[in-house]
Amino acid sequence: MKAIAVTPGTPNSVHLNELPKPSVDDIADGRGVLVRVLKVGVDATDREINDALYGNAPEGYDFLVIGHESFGIVEEVGDAVTHVKPGDYVSCTVRRPGGSIYDVIGHNDMTSEEVYYERGINLRHGYLTEFFVDDLEYIVRIPESVKHLGVLAEPASVVAKAVEQVYEAQRRLLVWEPKTAFVLGSGQIGLLATLALRLKGVEVYTLARSAAEGNIKAEIAEGYTGHYVSTAETSIDDLVAKVGRPDIIFESTGSSWIAFDAMRHLGLNGAMVWTSITGGDNEATIPADKINLEWVLGNKLMLGSVNGNFRHFRQGIADLLQGEMTYPGVTEKILTHPIDGLDNYQQMMDLLVEAMALKVYVNVAEG
Ligand code: BGC
Ligand code: ZN
Repeated sequence: MKAIAVTPGTPNSVHLNELPKPSVDDIADGRGVLVRVLKVGVDATDREINDALYGNAPEGYDFLVIGHESFGIVEEVGDAVTHVKPGDYVSCTVRRPGGSIYDVIGHNDMTSEEVYYERGINLRHGYLTEFFVDDLEYIVRIPESVKHLGVLAEPASVVAKAVEQVYEAQRRLLVWEPKTAFVLGSGQIGLLATLALRLKGVEVYTLARSAAEGNIKAEIAEGYTGHYVSTAETSIDDLVAKVGRPDIIFESTGSSWIAFDAMRHLGLNGAMVWTSITGGDNEATIPADKINLEWVLGNKLMLGSVNGNFRHFRQGIADLLQGEMTYPGVTEKILTHPIDGLDNYQQMMDLLVEAMALKVYVNVAEG
């Protein structure tokens, strides 16, 4: 079967490769779930893997099949599988366990090992192919009513984890009730974070460079009843002067400079969560004394958050569902750039470098 792959270490090596069709029996003890791939989303991670900034091939291969945002339909299940059946729509988690205690207890998103195994990213083949098989533990069912958003299950899981982490960590404050959040960036993660935080009743300001006028990202943020703020028109300093400092800053711009600089604006007792993966080696100047002083005097919290495990997929899908009930028809506007079939892999990569392409995804098969 066809698969879109890269040669790790070689920039711009995206190509079509071949893998044998997997079988449900590839997974021992009747725990296999064979999935026919319907759609796969791509993001900046796929672009940076193709730029050879990171990503390694699985043992025994000189290529890595990319694509970690999966959506498909169950074709066949082993005897031990009870939570999904053939015909169900599913997504599949990304990270696979290493050997640390976190991996052993089902929290592989929190692994304490340097090497991590992620399908489509590092040391495991991804989903940009026709079929995949995996252990029942990693297969997450997607209700029929949000199957049109199924390809967003993975990014929604990343957001669900980051938001969960903020609330978990802020239990240190005993009575913390966040009123406002600044979401930095209006890519898929920023927009889904806008949704998740609105569903929690937080007033959300979604900040990004582009003008609001005729901008689909602004339309989506406002569709979730968030406030879209174009930093070309209103600087973050002006916004703070107007609405005060936020209780939460959710950083998802892809710019490490913005991530550091925005620390100036977090409110007292606030929490800032970073979700951008910045593969480069940029350096930046920041007002370090000022930030240090204010963070100490304000008991502020910084946390990084990566990946999402099975539970976060479930929460992310629940958010997509609740989003449909609360803000019907808004989330599907994220799905801006469909690609027709695996053969069009070059078009897929080319679109990923276009800033206005909010969500690029491949229609692998009908279903
Ligand atoms: C993926 C995560 C992954 C992270 C680090 C992100 O693009 O969505 O699942 O853990 O990259 O590789
Ligand atoms: Zn991703």
